[in-house]
Amino acid sequence: MPTVHLHNTDIRFEQSEAHDTLLRAGLSQGIGLPYECNSGGCGSCKFELLDGEIEELWPDAPALTPRDIRKGRKLACQCRALGDITIRMPNDAQFVPLHRPRRQRATLVARRDVTADIIEFRFHTDAPAHFLPGQYAMLTLNGARTPRAYSMSNLGNDDGVWDFWIRRKPGGEVSEALFASLHPGDSLLLDGPYGLAHLQPASPRDVLCIAGGSGISPVLSIARGLLSDPALAERRLHFFFGARTPADICGLAELQRLPGFNERAGFHVAVSEPGASDNWHGATGFIHELVSRTLGEKLATLECYLAGPPPMVQATTRMLLLDHQVPQQQVHFDRFF
Ligand SMILES: Cc1cc2nc3c(=O)[nH]c(=O)nc-3n(C[C@H](O)[C@H](O)[C@H](O)COP(=O)(O)OP(=O)(O)OC[C@H]3O[C@@H](n4cnc5c(N)ncnc54)[C@H](O)[C@@H]3O)c2cc1C
Ligand code: FES
Repeated sequence: MPTVHLHNTDIRFEQSEAHDTLLRAGLSQGIGLPYECNSGGCGSCKFELLDGEIEELWPDAPALTPRDIRKGRKLACQCRALGDITIRMPNDAQFVPLHRPRRQRATLVARRDVTADIIEFRFHTDAPAHFLPGQYAMLTLNGARTPRAYSMSNLGNDDGVWDFWIRRKPGGEVSEALFASLHPGDSLLLDGPYGLAHLQPASPRDVLCIAGGSGISPVLSIARGLLSDPALAERRLHFFFGARTPADICGLAELQRLPGFNERAGFHVAVSEPGASDNWHGATGFIHELVSRTLGEKLATLECYLAGPPPMVQATTRMLLLDHQVPQQQVHFDRFF
């Protein structure tokens, strides 16, 4: 069983499961390794190999720049040790998982159309579904070459229920297969939870949730976590959703069912591409523009959670950090690579 040693520390962990990446091996043993996407897209998990041999699962993953490749930097979410190794990689208590990832079979118990291209998939596992609002899991379909990250839209529970809102990406290997061939009774491999952009219940601040497209799934979970927790009853919720067309708007019905939604929360939508026949009279343009117009100076006082396509998250974080001086530690995001 290969052992991974973090250079300049006394931290050693084993890569005990055959399919483990270095990142998964570390997190599953409670080591606080930095990461974001677990999908080769963000580059937060870069490390340098100092000794030993590794296998690279995706050598040309998009997070690796030509400079990284020249310098020999690798991604911990896309590498496995082939024997004992020593690596240079940061670690910090803030990254230590509260719930360590666990691999298990999950059976689909229901599927429901949310919009024309988003389906809610509800899975059941024998073990409890322990995760924080806003976290995600890696799903591996039978026969698929690699897992994909999908965020839970519900709350952690002892009943083993995991809900995901998944958007069909035209031509996408896994989302197309989920839509076409996964039916109640079918199962897949679920590995989770993962993710650091989860609800911060200790924050005294009101909450801003911003979702673009399928980014609705984790922020719905965060809204549920906030409004369902009596200890957080003083916090207000500002919920913003960026849709491409009016037909893509979703989530309001679920939010309105939450306790205190009408008294404590507001739901705002911007549509970026309204068609002439849509008869849309609401806000148009990008969601970060509507957030900036609506909340202005108040933004710096909020705990902000964002999820969606990388360009939407990039434009929104720029607006928050640069235009409105929101402190970086108040901004939490998942980019859907
Ligand atoms: C943290 C996170 C949370 C997400 N949550 C959601 C969600 O709640 N709902 C939702 O609809 N989508 C979500 N996504 C996006 C989702 O993971 C998929 O990228 C999306 O469904 C498209 O996958 P696909 O297989 O259909 O498309 P494809 O185009 O076939 O695959 C796209 C993705 O697969 C991965 N990939 C491609 N090749 C490889 C390889 N060789 N090895 C490893 N990985 C590879 C990359 O991440 C790439 O972006 C999330 C992504 C991330 C990173
Ligand atoms: S966590 Fe490895 S590239 Fe994003």
